Amino acid sequence: MRASPNHLIVIFGASGDLTRRKLIPALFNILKQNLMPSNFAILGVGRTEMNNEIFRDEMKSSLATFSEIQSTKDKDALEKFLSLLFYCAIDTFKPEAYEALKNKVDHLDSDFKLDDNIIFYLATPPNLYDKIPAFLANQGLNRKTHKLIIEKPFGNDLDSAKTLNRELLNFFTEDQIYRIDHYLGKETVQNILVTRFSNHIFEPIWNRNFIHHVEITSAESIGVEKRGGYYDNSGALRDMVQNHLLQLVGLIAMEPPILADSVNIRNETLKVFKSLRPLSQENIRKDIIRGQYLHSTINNEKVLSYRDEEGVRRDSKTETYAAMKFFIDNWRWSGVPFYLRTGKKLPTRVTEVVIHYRQTPHHLFCNTLGLPNDSNQLVIRIQPDEGLLMKFGMKVPGAGFTVQNVNMDFHYSSLTDKKIPEAYERLLLDCMLNDSTLYARGDTVETTWEFINPILEAWKEDAGIPLYGYPSGTWGPDVADSLIEEPWLKWRHPCKNLTDDGIYCEL
Ligand code: BG6
Repeated sequence: MRASPNHLIVIFGASGDLTRRKLIPALFNILKQNLMPSNFAILGVGRTEMNNEIFRDEMKSSLATFSEIQSTKDKDALEKFLSLLFYCAIDTFKPEAYEALKNKVDHLDSDFKLDDNIIFYLATPPNLYDKIPAFLANQGLNRKTHKLIIEKPFGNDLDSAKTLNRELLNFFTEDQIYRIDHYLGKETVQNILVTRFSNHIFEPIWNRNFIHHVEITSAESIGVEKRGGYYDNSGALRDMVQNHLLQLVGLIAMEPPILADSVNIRNETLKVFKSLRPLSQENIRKDIIRGQYLHSTINNEKVLSYRDEEGVRRDSKTETYAAMKFFIDNWRWSGVPFYLRTGKKLPTRVTEVVIHYRQTPHHLFCNTLGLPNDSNQLVIRIQPDEGLLMKFGMKVPGAGFTVQNVNMDFHYSSLTDKKIPEAYERLLLDCMLNDSTLYARGDTVETTWEFINPILEAWKEDAGIPLYGYPSGTWGPDVADSLIEEPWLKWRHPCKNLTDDGIYCEL
């Protein structure tokens, strides 16, 4: 692993939830693994008035909750980490306030010999995304060695994403902009590339001649929690599909890149997004299902409906579930349907991609139900119980040739005792190393919006498109089953444990 150059990390939105729960613990974990640069400092910026000491105390208590501090080594690392945390209170909406920030940045840079390498992390509400970069540039804080990390949502639709890209590019170059999509930072998402391109057995059969369809599920058992205000203006399509799940599709469907670097990998995913078959009004009505969770009782506890959640409009039509069928019109995938679904308040938390292979061309054997044997499946489990599962037919011992579908499974937990690193650890480290491979490029973001935008418009304009209710704790509206046309095929009902599908699930 290359050593990362010295860095100052400036976090806007330093008193917010993301900083506390994800960014500070990720930076601390990088330090614990001895991967932080030799010289670094972290500067929190926010409107809340506090000094360095208060900021350090607050971050210390966050680390106690969201990180592991057990050994003496961890405790020493904590002391060092806290001593390198600083805070600067400014009104981030006021351009003149940035002069004070510049002074602070200059001091830290020279005191800690940080070589003018600065990351500005925008962990703020999106209404600051077009302001902070301009105000930084005004202070000369957009030099070549300065980088900008932007959290999602990257735009709210195609037009706003294009406008935001344009505005950012007025002040920073594309190479300096890191659009974070935390799904790309997940180990198991990166493993899609390794599974496909480091094993000769998969790639030759990774195409329309062998694959019948691809199924992607990203289910959450939680609801909108305290984020009703944000979510009600977003919905599942904007919150999960346009970014995280289409990025997954990009990695599953891409052609082999020439090199595993940011230009080549992102060029290939862009080609996938450009090949997504545009959705006609008829497709939107027929092939896209939206749903919203209703109240129910789970494990004897009453669960609120979406419309009763804090911050949500009582007559809200925002979808908390979306399922869709779409095609990728290129040589490799022509005619292969992709089925994708995501939702909140589903029975369990699971994200996985399932490659369903075609059935054998001639059915010699039957399964235990007397039907032609099921086709092979490769399950790529992103979370939890991260791993791979291959399903194939085996002879049931005894007379005749009865076939049973069996599992061959690999669990990440068997590869290492180490905890799988959090997505933010990998992404922050990559940014310090100037590696943007796992960040979304401007053109890929715009292309995914191009695909999603017609759905958003149709849902807004056409009141005749139904929004189905589904009781919390179920797999979403039943009507989503009809997306898969073949009567013998259905969505998988994955469980918390990779191998436990189709049986009783622990919820
Ligand atoms: C976020 C969404 O980007 O991803 C959330 O805004 C969602 O609504 C979350 O819960 C899911 O991420 P993960 O890593 O828990 O699957």
